[in-house]
Amino acid sequence: MDGKTKLFGIIGNPVTHSFSPAMHTAAFQAVGINAVYLPFQISESFLPDCILSFRELHVLGFNVTVPYKEAVMPFLDVISEEARLIGAVNTVVYNGNQWIGYNTDGLGFVQSLKEKTGSIQGNQVTLLGAGGSARSIAYSLLKENVDRLTIWNRTQEKAEQLIEELQNLFPDADIRYINNLESESTGILINTTSVGMDGKSSPLDSSVSLQACKLTADIIYNPSRTPLLRSAEKAGIPVLNGIGMLLYQGTAAFEIFTGTQAPVEVMRKSLLDSLHVSFNVK
Ligand code: ATR
Repeated sequence: MDGKTKLFGIIGNPVTHSFSPAMHTAAFQAVGINAVYLPFQISESFLPDCILSFRELHVLGFNVTVPYKEAVMPFLDVISEEARLIGAVNTVVYNGNQWIGYNTDGLGFVQSLKEKTGSIQGNQVTLLGAGGSARSIAYSLLKENVDRLTIWNRTQEKAEQLIEELQNLFPDADIRYINNLESESTGILINTTSVGMDGKSSPLDSSVSLQACKLTADIIYNPSRTPLLRSAEKAGIPVLNGIGMLLYQGTAAFEIFTGTQAPVEVMRKSLLDSLHVSFNVK
């Protein structure tokens, strides 16, 4: 570090658990960028001053985590189409004049899915959930031309509202609500709800067979195998947990921050090391 070290960071509350400082700092070192990435735990009332201070202090970019992904939006100058639809921003970069907000969560998930399955074009996908994560993932899946997107949610109206918004953006896409999950699930199944974080519950009734699924995914990364993924594995179905989404939302943010290709393996190793230390997740 010297007088020219550039500063990036993450705002949220809390942020002490975040893996991003280690992951991004390792990436800067690997590609030879003189920069650091720090956690900033701030209160909601400080948010406007925080963004002003970042400009004065020459913070060049930052990530946004819970609970400010929506609250930060009024303080930005430009918001990407994806972030606008999702209604949340997780990555902000300063272009020398304006703060520009993006959302890399859905992109991160889709990148992780493609790493596992290759192209996802033409696949049928069922999403469980209609919250912020489902929104960003649905948008990114439709950009990849999935053949059919089916959405289930505990609160039906929220799913219907999401489908309407998505249909307006992708008029040719086949997007449907499913109100009871069939006895057999097919294609790619993705859990975006928080059900399974406790390591005990599953969003799917045990009577639903996963045999015909091509892949079962969960955005939860701790535990690394939720009950849903465990039952898919038992049925011999390939599974994907949320670690890849965490990694690739970070690599996409890094590329937005620096305009430099992210050192994916360095970032993956940092993330896996952090997960192992924090949760004994492998
Ligand atoms: P995130 O940003 O992680 O997506 P969110 O926007 O709060 O978080 O969305 C949480 C999702 O998990 C929603 O789809 C929610 O369903 P509702 O819209 O019915 O609230 C779903 N969810 C949370 N707890 C659930 C539970 N116990 N059973 C089923 N779905 C649940």
